[in-house]
Amino acid sequence: MPEDRVDHAKLRHHGDVDARPGMLDFAVNVQGVAPPEWLRQRLAARLSDLGRYPSAEEADAARRAVATRHRRLPDEVLLLAGAAEGFAMLPRLAPRLAAVVHPSFTEPELALREAGVPVARVVLEPPYLLDPVAVPDGADLVVLGNPTNPTSVLHPADAIRALRRPGRTIVVDEAFADAVPGEPESLAADPAPDLLVLRSLTKTWALAGLRCGYFLGAPAILARLAHGRAHWPLGTLQVEAIMATASPAAVAEADRHAETLALGRTAMIERLTRLGVHVHAPADGPFLLLRVADGELLRKHLADQGIAVRRADTFPGLGPDHLRVAVRGADEVDRLVAAIRSAGV
Ligand SMILES: Cc1ncc(COP(=O)(O)O)c(C=O)c1O
Repeated sequence: MPEDRVDHAKLRHHGDVDARPGMLDFAVNVQGVAPPEWLRQRLAARLSDLGRYPSAEEADAARRAVATRHRRLPDEVLLLAGAAEGFAMLPRLAPRLAAVVHPSFTEPELALREAGVPVARVVLEPPYLLDPVAVPDGADLVVLGNPTNPTSVLHPADAIRALRRPGRTIVVDEAFADAVPGEPESLAADPAPDLLVLRSLTKTWALAGLRCGYFLGAPAILARLAHGRAHWPLGTLQVEAIMATASPAAVAEADRHAETLALGRTAMIERLTRLGVHVHAPADGPFLLLRVADGELLRKHLADQGIAVRRADTFPGLGPDHLRVAVRGADEVDRLVAAIRSAGV
């Protein structure tokens, strides 16, 4: 698509803008409203350390913890201020042509376009399964999400590996991978030199406001990504949060949470389907892609009732009748179902 026909405002649209304070929030995919108590306490215990610069030793310890968690080496870990920082670094790889697989999270495309990198959109049709042939041969960078926001499609790890070509780097945005029990299709532990995996602590740990994530990849690529970065890129509390959530106990907690979420998702799919809403399935992420007869109207009706859902027409390949909803507990889903029913869907 020619650069002058790309709507940058649409690419920058995210669920947080759809949810106003006080609304029942199905628009943002963060789990819960705040980090768990133990994590808050751990961060609070470090508040007095804000008076000093974060040390290289602390960052190294966090990198070691992340490396152990993913069965990698510490120099295969680059700590980030959120996955969003990782997307902003991608232009440093100086790709000749970047292919972004859609429908998917739009920040990587925006970051690449804003840096002047030529971008080819690979727009998958329902059921949104990966098709290696659809990726242009000339693409030396391919970016995709797994599980994919907003379709909730979980691509098999081997389907992603099938995109590998000499001279090509593949970036897998696994911001939601820890919401899938056992992380079966994650490439986080794969040491292949052309695979870069991006992880986020935002969603599962309700840490959107702290900005924490990391890249996993070959040291040579990580060095290129980090080149030119400001000194002290992460603060003390960010490093502490990354360290804390990489512990075996935290990983086990995330996995239990993922199991609960999967049960909630199954129940939610059944209830929405019974209402006559089309839910894209199978779904493996902590959100569902819906298709209804008049998405715009339903979204407004729900907003009038104090319920925020994510418009999905800002995702390339989707239209105004697509909406995305986070998987939530039974009480919240009761309210959503009642509100959809009152709209006469
Ligand atoms: C698929 C996906 N990747 C990455 C991000 C950004 O994550 P972070 O908060 O770590 O920057 C989001 C945020 O909505 C997302 O949906």
